[in-house]
Amino acid sequence: MFIKIKRNCPKTESSQCNKFIHGKLQIKGIISIFNSALAWQDVGLPLSTTSNEACKMYDALLTQIVSWTNDPSLGGFEICKTKLQAADPDFVMGQVVINGAELIGTGKSVWLDKDLDAAVKRMVGLSKTQEITERERLHVEALDLFAKGSLPKACNVWEEILLYQPTDLLALKMSQDTYYYLGYKQQLRDSVARVLPHWTPQIPLYGYLNGMYSFGLVETNFYDLAEKVARKGLALNPSDAWSTHTLAHVYEMNADVYNGLKFLKEMENSWKGSDMLSCHIYWHWALYHIEKGDYEAALTLYDDQISRSCFKSGAMLDIVDACSMLYRLQMEGINLNNRWKKLAKVTRSHAKDHILIYNDVHILMSLLGAKEADTANQLIISLQEVSQTPGENHQHQLARDLGLPICQAITEFANGNYSRTVDLLNPIRYQVQNIGGSNAQRDIFDLLLIHAALKSDCRAHQKLARCLLMERDALRPNSPMNERLIRKAIALHNVD
Ligand SMILES: [Fe+2]
Repeated sequence: MFIKIKRNCPKTESSQCNKFIHGKLQIKGIISIFNSALAWQDVGLPLSTTSNEACKMYDALLTQIVSWTNDPSLGGFEICKTKLQAADPDFVMGQVVINGAELIGTGKSVWLDKDLDAAVKRMVGLSKTQEITERERLHVEALDLFAKGSLPKACNVWEEILLYQPTDLLALKMSQDTYYYLGYKQQLRDSVARVLPHWTPQIPLYGYLNGMYSFGLVETNFYDLAEKVARKGLALNPSDAWSTHTLAHVYEMNADVYNGLKFLKEMENSWKGSDMLSCHIYWHWALYHIEKGDYEAALTLYDDQISRSCFKSGAMLDIVDACSMLYRLQMEGINLNNRWKKLAKVTRSHAKDHILIYNDVHILMSLLGAKEADTANQLIISLQEVSQTPGENHQHQLARDLGLPICQAITEFANGNYSRTVDLLNPIRYQVQNIGGSNAQRDIFDLLLIHAALKSDCRAHQKLARCLLMERDALRPNSPMNERLIRKAIALHNVD
């Protein structure tokens, strides 16, 4: 973001016009004096603080969020947070970007984490006592709604910001991530499409909009256009991990294993430094191996990259990817040894989170895989409890009709009750997208239904398995995994 600050700053030694170009402060000399702090005013995104350092750290944090990179050249995320707090502890947008990064990770919530709850309340309190702009007030409102679990309403507020300030990258990024959590594919695509004409390549971080837009395109099945836009993002910035990630999805959805593996391997040095996303890209890499039937290679990636990242970061994206990878390998009949037990050391503390249904069901997979039946049961009981809690929490509202049936289906499958699994999952299979995640991530539920139907002793379920595989073949022709499953279905003697 190109940012100029013009002000008469009581907290700094001189009044200057400074340019922040995402993390790099360039002093341009004394230009003009204003009577109030008008940070970022020139680009129409004023920040209400009198601290240059706070603005610089806001910029550094936003850059790292958008690039999925804990960037040592900017000081790293934690150090930037500390510096921002020290520079201006009452800077409302500083609190927004810090709390936003915490909340959007979905590993913490205000109802489980007292410190986060206090931080969000303080942010809201500051917004009422400080003189801030309407855009900043809306940012606070949106994040407060997100914190309360009112995700669709939060998106509405971010869109209200973008209507008037289409270059507000924080609003765009927060809404992008939230649309993804909601499974709102069209909004994921269109929210970028409608602001893109207001951006020019001269605006720093412009390149990252290509990654965002291309991801929305791939999720709505515009694979060719998604590839074109993602390659544009990579041409502008080869280390744009989100554009790389979109291309990984394009190869995945086309079951183009050869080119997917080739691409990720060739680009590995460009994307692996994006530590907030690299685990997920390794997960995509491992999916290609599963598709090929090369389970040893998938397990090696799990051991060397995915689980290692998961244990190191504790980030929810890494945790759910680790759960998802083991579950897929387990459905393929692979012996996982003690991997579930090791993973449960990280997942069991999230059993009662209920921040996202998508997270809950993956945590449940790990608990059942580790044979931690009591904790798995606690997860389901507490999910039942929150599903009956009145309020605006969108995910808790989804629990009754979607979260709990999926959890029950996963539990029945773990207990060998395949027929019951089908009965629970089949009626809701077209609603599963409402728990969020990408098409590639949610494929795990399609596979679960197919495996359960194949294993069920009910003749109708076995016929259903064949139908589901025909559907899958139509959408994803030449998939080696599908061919294996079709052979399995044909081999069933008792199918008509
Ligand atoms: Fe992905």
